[in-house]
Amino acid sequence: MAEGDPVITEIQDWNRYPGDGVDARPYGQPSQFESHVVRKNVPWLTSDTISSINFTPLHELEGIITPNGLCFERHHAGIAEIDPANHRLMINGLVDKPLVFTMADLKRFPRENRVYFLECAANTGMEWRGSQLNGCQYTHGMIHCVMYTGVRLKHILEEAGVKAAGSWVLAEGADASAMTRSIPMEKALDDCMVAFAMNGEALRPEQGYPIRLVVPGWEGNMWVKWLRRLEVGDQPWQQREETSKYTDLLANGKARRFTWKMDVKSVITSPSPQVPIVHGKGRTLVSGLAWSGSGTIKRVDVSIDGGRNWHAARIDGPSLPMALHRFYYEFDWDGSEIFLQSRAIDESGFVQPTKDQLRAVRGENSIYHNNGIQTWHVNKDGGVENVEIS
Ligand code: MTE
Repeated sequence: MAEGDPVITEIQDWNRYPGDGVDARPYGQPSQFESHVVRKNVPWLTSDTISSINFTPLHELEGIITPNGLCFERHHAGIAEIDPANHRLMINGLVDKPLVFTMADLKRFPRENRVYFLECAANTGMEWRGSQLNGCQYTHGMIHCVMYTGVRLKHILEEAGVKAAGSWVLAEGADASAMTRSIPMEKALDDCMVAFAMNGEALRPEQGYPIRLVVPGWEGNMWVKWLRRLEVGDQPWQQREETSKYTDLLANGKARRFTWKMDVKSVITSPSPQVPIVHGKGRTLVSGLAWSGSGTIKRVDVSIDGGRNWHAARIDGPSLPMALHRFYYEFDWDGSEIFLQSRAIDESGFVQPTKDQLRAVRGENSIYHNNGIQTWHVNKDGGVENVEIS
């Protein structure tokens, strides 16, 4: 007679002894068995961890919302630890009334809740000249998607009264890098927010506590954290972050500038190099994420033969503009090697390009705005590798 499975036949400790009481964990943490689900740094990428980046573990996440403690971080001068009682938001420049707001002042404006992705323009940047990093955490993990609570930037600008010539807004951070970006007035008055909460609780220090700018669908660099000042002007300020950085050098030596919007993009998060197929052939679930700075995702296709044939994936969960979308594709894996790809199409009809199509237009010098189709090679053992098909 076969022996019984000891996890069923033997009484386990957690079944024998009472566990911790309600006061043991006043702020809850994930299970100790999930300790591998963390943000990760690529040590060779930057010379220190102060002006640096870590990556969201996309391969371990479900749904469309990123837990606060797993949102990737990008700091130019480390995390500013700000006491909200000593934080002010100033608005000056081409306004009728220059104003200074405390946190309490900001919380008296009409409040809104919106789910948006934030993607760093450099996401997938290390892959411009060929596949390099083995894992979607590293190739695509400069993205997170949370529900922000805050006030529309429009209300703050209206309170100060924008003068007729005011056509740009400069946003400035209170951190040691005093990060600054110019934002066109049209966008500022449209859907930008000053957010003080994410996923129902105060912003995390890493994400700009006590307030950050939210610039839906546009590159993460513009989402100024620890926001302390807004200046209204009649032209862009040509700051470092919009001249020497966050511009795209083309093959002819000219650079694309003010490339704010994040283009339609997707990635298969499982299977992927950090999540090989371990169950052998048979029923296999493909799971992934798609997003677009132009709105919602209309369709995602999945290929298992490197883009020769495409199959419609199933988008599941909320489909919100400028938010992550979750897709699934179920198939019967015959155990042979396959080349997995996903291709997203957004509501404006933009189709995610292949990496070759992207390079044909943009050359090979770029770092930013790489939305090319990702290929994962699954070998017969179920191991997965980052490759490129041309
Ligand atoms: N704001 C300030 N004040 N300082 C910074 O270093 N980094 C920017 C932006 N806002 C930055 C900032 C960059 S490059 C990105 S991609 C996003 O914040 C990252 O946001 P996150 O750290 O919440 O992921």
